[in-house]
Amino acid sequence: MLDLDLEFPFEKLAQDLQTTGISILPNFVSPDILSKLELRIAELSSDDFKQAGIGRLASHEQNKKIRRDKIHWLDTSNELESVWLNYMGELKAYLNRRLFMGLFSYESHFAIYPPGAFYKKHMDAFKGKTNRILTTVLYLNQSWASDNGGELVVYNPDNHDEILTTVLPSYGTLVTFLSDEFPHEVLVANEKRYSIAGWFRVNASINHSIDPPK
Ligand code: OGA
Ligand code: MN
Repeated sequence: MLDLDLEFPFEKLAQDLQTTGISILPNFVSPDILSKLELRIAELSSDDFKQAGIGRLASHEQNKKIRRDKIHWLDTSNELESVWLNYMGELKAYLNRRLFMGLFSYESHFAIYPPGAFYKKHMDAFKGKTNRILTTVLYLNQSWASDNGGELVVYNPDNHDEILTTVLPSYGTLVTFLSDEFPHEVLVANEKRYSIAGWFRVNASINHSIDPPK
């Protein structure tokens, strides 16, 4: 049978964003792209991952109370990382044509949550303050069991105490949501958890300062 969601994942994503502001799509990414991303993670060493921060002014201790993941930013100079950045470039073009979102750039990092790691409830962007528009998270965990923890919990934009949905970080699932609308958190992972988080941004350059920076 023809499965329209699998056939046209970009269109399904656009429709979800238009109706609810959030999209959760299993099997969003082709097996070919997924295996290239796994290959890249496998060849990176722990030195290539840095403790993630929450802002320039926060201390290391403050950071560790809020998030414990380790990250590696993707760059076009690496062929395997380019595969993901190019694919998301296609999604950017699609969303701009389809929803006139005016997305300008995409930044993204691998994240490893070692056992015991979490990311407390937070927003990725604040209204009027930001150029991060759309958050994406792709999961790269083969056969993630529900007792492994590490779920993404998304809260209701109108009531930040109410859980909207809980997502298991399963292989190939892509979650996309409006960055300044949905509070979310990552529950404690009991196994090593792999993902790629990313953000589409608009061009907010003013007064000759280039933002986003190159
Ligand atoms: C983030 C984030 C969610 C996830 O990196 O900002 O919220 O499920 N990640 O990894
Ligand atoms: Mn986040």
